[in-house]
Amino acid sequence: MNHKLTLKREEFNGSCGCLDPNFNPLSDESNCGSVRPFPWERHLFSQRRLVLKYVILAGTLINSGEFREITNSSNTEGISLMRTKTIVTIVLCALSLATACVSGTQTNTGKKKKGPNETVRIGFSMDTLKEERWQRDKELVEQRCKEVGAECEVQVANGDDSLQTKQCDNLLTKGVDVLIVAPHNGQIAASIVEAAHRQGVPVISYDRLIRNSDVDLYVSHQVVKIGEMQAQYALDNRPKGNYILIGGSPTDNNALLLRDGQMNVLKPAIARGDIKIISDQFAKEWKAEEALRITEDALTKTNNDIQAIVASNDGTAGGAISALPPQLVGKVLVTGQDAALDAVQRIVDGKQTMTIYKPIRPLAFSAVDSALKLARGEPVEAKDKINNGKIDVPSILQEPIVVDKNKVMQTVIKDGYHKMEDVYKNVPRDQWPKQ
Ligand code: BGC
Repeated sequence: MNHKLTLKREEFNGSCGCLDPNFNPLSDESNCGSVRPFPWERHLFSQRRLVLKYVILAGTLINSGEFREITNSSNTEGISLMRTKTIVTIVLCALSLATACVSGTQTNTGKKKKGPNETVRIGFSMDTLKEERWQRDKELVEQRCKEVGAECEVQVANGDDSLQTKQCDNLLTKGVDVLIVAPHNGQIAASIVEAAHRQGVPVISYDRLIRNSDVDLYVSHQVVKIGEMQAQYALDNRPKGNYILIGGSPTDNNALLLRDGQMNVLKPAIARGDIKIISDQFAKEWKAEEALRITEDALTKTNNDIQAIVASNDGTAGGAISALPPQLVGKVLVTGQDAALDAVQRIVDGKQTMTIYKPIRPLAFSAVDSALKLARGEPVEAKDKINNGKIDVPSILQEPIVVDKNKVMQTVIKDGYHKMEDVYKNVPRDQWPKQ
């Protein structure tokens, strides 16, 4: 997670040449020296390779012994025929070279880069607005676009993969310069990346990773670390006993990363026999009802003997808490994620134990700012990289923050993420903490 990768990109320069003298245009492995092209730029390299092959061919012909033999002979007809052929070849090569330069910047094989004063058009494709956090994501992406003078169109797929694909096709048809995609299904969304790259449009994977694709950039929080923080909090406070693990949607890469993080921490305690996993399931579509069902089953199985529920987000935490009999509410430790208002209210009420606060502003802003850079062909600094099954995706990952009853004031309220009167709405005013 701590890999330091500064991703730089260089636009083809005016002469359509690589800036690195070691660049080998004929090699498929060539990276233009240390500069790695963004995936959608790779076809431009292959096109230049073809053109350079023609040029080299022409050069070979000119220098060939046969050519010299003919030109040295007294056969003037042969000389002029050969000269004409050579000139035609060179002119054709020069023409195709010129075409390649243009296509590198403005034809169908690569989208024209935006100048500093040109308006960048961003398409933001979202899976859902169901959780409160996604409404913030939408608002903050739109706000940032306004601030930086970019145009932004948002489409929401409501958990429907084919709709999300269609909406992205539509955004591409409308001519967006960059796509930001929060995928419903991280595997299926690979086809969105392919479609965008066919039009030279870069794609930013937002919050959730698009798997097995050449996606250009990933902006998110440190998801494995979130899983570790949830499990560590549970283990620190309930070091022994029966645990329920409730994952998110199995089609969301985040749900899998969270589980990895949780297991990193829990495995040794399981091996020692300190904790026992009674149920280890994923809640389809991150549904609270699924979490309720999983919790009810585990309660029945153990005759209500549960000490901790590691729920992967606040929605599933809420579902799990509603399955608890009244005498267990507040006794069973319940984790969460998102610092949603209803979850933070449950925390100050003593019903949910903790959540993970993921500030959305830096995430949304980094997505828009990076989109602008990609559209303008400027370097994007991405310190991390995450493998998506196909490539190491340059990534910008924000820090998550633990929030429990004692930390509500210094985190979500201090940041203005929630208002004090909303969070403590169900608590008598004389019991509110001092500001
Ligand atoms: C996000 C969570 C969110 C969940 C359900 C995950 O990918 O990271 O913040 O609660 O999806 O929408």
